[in-house]
Amino acid sequence: MKKVVEILSDLDLKQVIEIQKDSLLDFSKIDESSYVDEINKKGFFIAPYSFDEFKKDKNKILLGIKEKDKVLAYIWISVVVDDHKYNKWINDEIKKEIFNRKIYKIKGIGVEKNKLGQGLGSKLLESLDNYLLDKSIKYLVSSIAFNPIKNLASLKFHKKLGFKKIAISPKVKYYGFDNYQCVLMAKLVRYN
Ligand SMILES: CC(C)(COP(=O)(O)OP(=O)(O)OC[C@H]1O[C@@H](n2cnc3c(N)ncnc32)[C@H](O)[C@@H]1OP(=O)(O)O)[C@@H](O)C(=O)NCCC(=O)NCCS
Repeated sequence: MKKVVEILSDLDLKQVIEIQKDSLLDFSKIDESSYVDEINKKGFFIAPYSFDEFKKDKNKILLGIKEKDKVLAYIWISVVVDDHKYNKWINDEIKKEIFNRKIYKIKGIGVEKNKLGQGLGSKLLESLDNYLLDKSIKYLVSSIAFNPIKNLASLKFHKKLGFKKIAISPKVKYYGFDNYQCVLMAKLVRYN
């Protein structure tokens, strides 16, 4: 039985970076329909995080599923700080209900390419609840690429795991995109 563990060592963190690399979007191919079909089936990352960015996040909860010494999947969540960018484009009702308290955001979730679709992502998300309950966190939020390319696998994954859409961002310049938009989704972790 594969167990969910905290990722603490640099060695494990390097494997997390590799998982991330394997699923990075190839901007040079996004106009090819066969490539879009391919990434729709497995999901992708747009923005890679470096080893140092993982390391310097002092609020992170970083969980992984390991088999022997190999990291097969990970989830990284962290606290959203008060003056975050969402305040500019989220309606007041949602701001009051969700953002007016301490919340965590999924900064990354990834599964090794040969292990996709085997329930590892679900297992990681479900095991997060215990960590979040301990910290009295009510909501977990996540942003997913929506335009000009949708991360369909991730959208369906979040929906299946109980996330609801709360907003769509304005168009911004982001990495290789001129008009990037994401969907912001939230999941109720607990009732206070
Ligand atoms: C998104 C991701 C983390 C899902 O993890 P996973 O372990 O493959 O997903 P699970 O096996 O737990 O699937 C749970 C549910 O999610 C949905 N889902 C997962 N992958 C899907 C896919 N490729 N297409 C459609 N729905 C998918 C399904 O509803 C699935 O339930 P089902 O098996 O009963 O149909 C994984 O696809 C991944 O790492 N993708 C690459 C990186 C990425 O896109 N990260 C998210 C960035 S926002």
